[in-house]
Amino acid sequence: MGSDPFLPYSSKDAVVCRGIGKTWAIDTPRAHEALRDVDLDIRPGEFVVLLGPSGCGKSTLLYLIAGLEAQTSGQIWSFHDEVTTPSPDRSLIFQETSLFPWLAVWQNVSFGLSIRGVPLKERRAVARDALSRVGLVEAMDKRPDELSGGMRQRVAVARALAMRPKVLLMDEPFAALDVQTRAKMQDFLLDVWRDSGASVLFVTHSIDEAVALADRVVVFTSRPGRIKTIVPIDLPRPRDPFSPQCEALRRLLTEELRGEVDRAFAEQEALARTG
Ligand SMILES: Nc1ncnc2c1ncn2[C@@H]1O[C@H](COP(=O)(O)OP(=O)(O)OP(=O)(O)O)[C@@H](O)[C@H]1O
Ligand SMILES: [Mg+2]
Repeated sequence: MGSDPFLPYSSKDAVVCRGIGKTWAIDTPRAHEALRDVDLDIRPGEFVVLLGPSGCGKSTLLYLIAGLEAQTSGQIWSFHDEVTTPSPDRSLIFQETSLFPWLAVWQNVSFGLSIRGVPLKERRAVARDALSRVGLVEAMDKRPDELSGGMRQRVAVARALAMRPKVLLMDEPFAALDVQTRAKMQDFLLDVWRDSGASVLFVTHSIDEAVALADRVVVFTSRPGRIKTIVPIDLPRPRDPFSPQCEALRRLLTEELRGEVDRAFAEQEALARTG
């Protein structure tokens, strides 16, 4: 996997995407272009939010950066290494909660370590530490179905943190939560993020969430997803959602998204008609 000294760009960054394209089922009649020409650099410790219409390739981009899928064109780098396989340095929290219902909370959290053959006592200690960072030590020995939706998402965050990743990839982690729990989870995530020093790449459909969290918001076009614009947010956190600055940012992001969402819907309707 090593780095190539002749490549023309710095790979000190947490994530470097150059010319990324992804066509699912390429060279088949079902070929489907999801992403085109994505260039994106994420700095160490940066919080970047991806915003874009449904089906524009946001989850696809996270899979590529996680090393779970191969891109069809371009290259991805993370801290000196070209991304070709998954790595514990890059943890993905999936769009759908993916806890194992038959394992206790602590076993879910330390699952990645058990694959690596780490002894049970150490796994339990790591799980305890990660769960304490999400305020859920008491739930160590419970099963996921004994927890609320918000708690389950915190377990998913703890599981990602247990691997001490340098890059945390989060795919709409709070989408299923009610508004109040979601706001709490956002505050909590900002604390965890500050403590961990990791870079976060966070997908959401919520403009409010993007404005609350991001150092930069990357707005995607409709499929094939390309970067339409990148909006930096240089405001201290916690941010007052009712401040004129946040209001102006919401207006700007809504405007940037509107046309793309309309285009995505029109395309999905056309696809449904043609089968
Ligand atoms: N495994 C797959 N095989 C084939 N096509 C896929 C696969 N996964 C996603 N796609 C297609 O790629 C496109 C992008 O999908 P993706 O899941 O990345 O979108 P998204 O931006 O995350 O959407 P959403 O906001 O609805 O989660 C879609 O048109 C989808 O149908
Ligand atoms: Mg998605």
